[in-house]
Amino acid sequence: MNDSIPLLIDTDPGVDDALALLMAFNSPRHHLLGLCITAGNVGLDHTVANALKLSEVAGIKVPVYPGCERPLVFAAEDASYVHGRDGFGDIDYEPAHFQAELEHAALAILRESHTHAGKLLLVTLGPLTNLALAVRLDPTLPSRIGRLVVMGGAVTGKGNTSIAAEFNIAFDPEAAAIVFESFPDIILVDWEAVLRHGFRHSTFEGWLAGGSPRADFYERISRKTRLWAEGKRGDHWHSADALAMMAALHPEYIIEKQRYFIHVETAGNQSRGATMVDWLERSGRPAQTEIVLKLDQARFETMIQDALGARA
Ligand code: BDR
Ligand code: CA
Repeated sequence: MNDSIPLLIDTDPGVDDALALLMAFNSPRHHLLGLCITAGNVGLDHTVANALKLSEVAGIKVPVYPGCERPLVFAAEDASYVHGRDGFGDIDYEPAHFQAELEHAALAILRESHTHAGKLLLVTLGPLTNLALAVRLDPTLPSRIGRLVVMGGAVTGKGNTSIAAEFNIAFDPEAAAIVFESFPDIILVDWEAVLRHGFRHSTFEGWLAGGSPRADFYERISRKTRLWAEGKRGDHWHSADALAMMAALHPEYIIEKQRYFIHVETAGNQSRGATMVDWLERSGRPAQTEIVLKLDQARFETMIQDALGARA
């Protein structure tokens, strides 16, 4: 435990968040401090309930900190059309017995950043609202983060929410702009990297049929989303947050990355939420973001199978 890496996750569960969390629950190299919860894929009541339920199903008792229930400035549309109205596929699960903490997620981030100054691995799998709030409360926060891994953005403008924007950034562009202006070192797993790391639905269905309680639960909560994805994106299944979690837990599985300055657009007819990469270094601004371009696909698939208990 002493050598293990302290890990704090900010998330909006969410079907792919759930897979990422199962990966984190499974990691012997990390000590999971808590789950900070934000609204995003669906409303905060659901994302908190889903985090509690997933930890209960997995048998992992971890503090769950409810955070912001809306973006910092403007209301935004959720992604219930992908994840179900409750964010977990509307399977009508029995609510968890586990209870959420009273501390706000932004305050939990600040507190843990002091306790684990310089060592904390912070992973964000949802909109950046809680993190932006935390850094506004205490601008010295970035100096205490060991590694910050963000799932979000579309680095060449191939968005999944609008023409140019990815969901986590588009849901709260003001928060994302604050984070990209405040943190000098961000490891970014963007939507376009996710599209390069899919795996076949048929393969995934095989893993889900493994029979563990985790796999059974995940099969049920992901069923609607998998059907939706098959109709929309064909025979490959993509799990954005799981890919980001692999980059967080196993930096050695990152095969290719490049460092650039990224600006988050908050205005424009089509550009709100776009992540503008300074590819040609025209801005003169310090490059604050490692863009992850390629990860080890075989290791990714193995990690997912392990998280689902699908390998002996
Ligand atoms: C991101 O948006 C959400 O819907 C997913 O959970 C993931 O974090 C992918 O664009
Ligand atoms: Ca998410």
